[in-house]
Amino acid sequence: MKQIIVAIDGWSSCGKSTLAKQMAKVLGYIYVDSGAMYRAITLYFLRNHIDWTEEKEVIDALKDIELDFRPNDQNGTIEMYLNDENVEYLIRDLIVAEKVSEVAAVKAVRAFAVAQQQKLGKKKGIVMDGRDIGTVVFPRAELKLFMTADNAVRVERRFKELVEKNPNITIEEVAENIQMRDYIDSNREVSPLRQAKDAIVIDNTNLTQEEQLKKALKLVKNISG
Ligand code: DC
Repeated sequence: MKQIIVAIDGWSSCGKSTLAKQMAKVLGYIYVDSGAMYRAITLYFLRNHIDWTEEKEVIDALKDIELDFRPNDQNGTIEMYLNDENVEYLIRDLIVAEKVSEVAAVKAVRAFAVAQQQKLGKKKGIVMDGRDIGTVVFPRAELKLFMTADNAVRVERRFKELVEKNPNITIEEVAENIQMRDYIDSNREVSPLRQAKDAIVIDNTNLTQEEQLKKALKLVKNISG
């Protein structure tokens, strides 16, 4: 079977990472959560009071950032490390989610992250999810998926996930954050969220995780044999 690149893009909280992880597991591919990189950079900027509207400050700060994905042998997942610290849990916090779209819109930040993402895909056999994977990071990916789902369904899913960590969170806060991120992500100047011309749309509003996985794996099979 030929090793390919699977690029998964789409709106916030559409289940991109769920599908990407499951596909990578079945295919024996590497899974890369590109959003985790933007989240880790945001965490660093917040902690170190970096003003991301100042280009020079951003460029200097990026020199001190080392990002790394490392496996967690206990649960079989891949976790995000920022300068040797496991930040997988911290980067999912709403404090980071509230600022990540602003940080991800900064040109120097994108150049920094995209270069690392492209390096990870050199050997193929990779599933990467994000917002610009099929359009900018891997424009020649063999399979591009664009995921979408009804707004209410997305809010409900993300709320369920976040409320486990933070019982005080409200559904309105989650809805507002998703709406704001989608707006910034699709309206920014550099690499806005777009459906690649050759992407296949998966609307998972009424699909179970098993159904969407089956659909995606069938598409891989058609390409890689
Ligand atoms: O996938 P996520 O929700 O963890 O992504 C966090 C933010 O990072 C998202 O609001 C937009 C940004 N992002 C991006 O601009 N490009 C990517 N390839 C991945 C994420």
